[in-house]
Amino acid sequence: MRKESILITGAGGQIGTVLTKALQEKHGAENVLATDLREIDLPKTRTDTLNVLDKEKMTKLVVENRVTQIYHLAAILSAKGEEKPRFTWNINMEGLFNVLDVAKDHDVSKVFHPSSIAAFGPDTPRENTPQVTPATPTTVYGISKMAGEFWGNYYFLRYGLDIRSLRYPGIIGHRSLPGGGTTDYAVHIYHSALKGESFEVFLKESTALPMIYMDDAIRATLELMDAPKEKIKVRDAYNLAGMTFTPAEIVAAIKAEIPEFKATYKVNPLRQSIAESWPMSIDDSKATEDWGWKPTYDLKGMTKDMIKNLRKKYSFKKSA
Ligand code: SER
Repeated sequence: MRKESILITGAGGQIGTVLTKALQEKHGAENVLATDLREIDLPKTRTDTLNVLDKEKMTKLVVENRVTQIYHLAAILSAKGEEKPRFTWNINMEGLFNVLDVAKDHDVSKVFHPSSIAAFGPDTPRENTPQVTPATPTTVYGISKMAGEFWGNYYFLRYGLDIRSLRYPGIIGHRSLPGGGTTDYAVHIYHSALKGESFEVFLKESTALPMIYMDDAIRATLELMDAPKEKIKVRDAYNLAGMTFTPAEIVAAIKAEIPEFKATYKVNPLRQSIAESWPMSIDDSKATEDWGWKPTYDLKGMTKDMIKNLRKKYSFKKSA
């Protein structure tokens, strides 16, 4: 069997930082190349810079490393993307096209590219959003994710590229920070709580969004990529769920562990309108049916684990 050789784009981001480590554990650090637009500082990691618009360099890295799998994580997220719509479209779509073409032309056997709950929109049923349903995204990020899903499916149908994707909910973890998204508050809030600071939430306290703990999101990614090809029946992107909560509920969950924690609310109109256009909860039964997906963390379990890990991080910083 050919040894796997992995290329990750956007490896310095919220998911990339953690996924890189998981892929190193699985395939050996020597077989994983972590790339990002800027230099990344990950311990014991082979890194390189890669602008996903630079197809020539992408091709060179794939050929020289005899890459067998690409994890294409580089993208501009929902809130940040609205600042420069055409620029965002270009990065998100041309970056994906480069990955798809390089994979197709250079014998890459599998590609993972994430989609998102942002691919849905105001016409989508917001509760228990089905796998196949009207999707009318209203952010440039969401439009690019939905278009990316269709293109992934197209490359599968037309060229037989083994492409796999998940519609990630908001992802919460303690090892990395998100940037430019609408669900970011749910990560930053834990850091404030652990630093003994109060936190200003940029959404209304009743705005429910689908979320998932990083450990579950990484496991879902690895399980999807490991599943035998014939089990993958969805080539646009699988719905993926972990939990659903409102800001009021996450504040209460943190207060149960850190009673002195305080949160205030100051609505950011852009982020609020984006959140209101997205689902509140997701039906991920197709992922369960096809490749056995099952989340393990709920809000309480996640909160305990976040606090335990961040406590270590901040007490280490204090004593360092
Ligand atoms: N977490 C992303 C965002 O908020 C959604 O995919 O933009």
